[in-house]
Amino acid sequence: MSTLNISWNANSIKCYLPITLPTSKTRVKRNGNPVATRKTSLRKGDTIEWQISYLKEHKELSELGDITKLAYENGIISGYQLKCFLNELRDYKEFFDEKYGIKKILTDELFYDFKVLSEKTPILNKYLGDGYYVSVVLRYKQRAVGYQSMIYIYIPIEEVISEDGTSLIGRTARVKEIVVWNPSKEIIFATLKAFAVASKKHNDDIQKVISIILNP
Ligand code: ADE
Repeated sequence: MSTLNISWNANSIKCYLPITLPTSKTRVKRNGNPVATRKTSLRKGDTIEWQISYLKEHKELSELGDITKLAYENGIISGYQLKCFLNELRDYKEFFDEKYGIKKILTDELFYDFKVLSEKTPILNKYLGDGYYVSVVLRYKQRAVGYQSMIYIYIPIEEVISEDGTSLIGRTARVKEIVVWNPSKEIIFATLKAFAVASKKHNDDIQKVISIILNP
């Protein structure tokens, strides 16, 4: 099976992440570019990019929602901490997608008889040590006016092990390989916060996620 799974296992939160599907929500990147993991030997500095979700339809939790719930149920995050965090999020007044925009920049360059322009995309990065970071990236809304924030977690490849317990460093990925990752409390809060600053809608949604967890 090469699907993404999250569970409580051996006394910690375990995320099971596929790394061989370049179009999936988890994929390996090197210097910002996707890596063909079945063909390229992995090395320290490569990161797993996870476009993490939090909620499905009908108030059903997913991914970050599941992780946060497991952290709460197993005493990694207390109810008091979640309530304080919820109060903090409610006070946010400015949001990334409203305050920032993508800028077009004109250059002197020509390509054939076309002027070359480039675009400057604002990105928020929260660095968490050991090579981890959480990113909020602005992009144009699809089929609508305005901007949309996209949230990603970056996990150093040396921080995960394969399902069979081996390291990924110095080898290519196996067929449909799944890696196991244990998210820390720090990265859980940083990711919740990334959503909360990304847009008003994401902030409202994260408030909903925390309320669902606190009042099941
Ligand atoms: N909605 C659900 N998951 C998202 C993500 N990772 N970024 C932006 N919006 C989302």
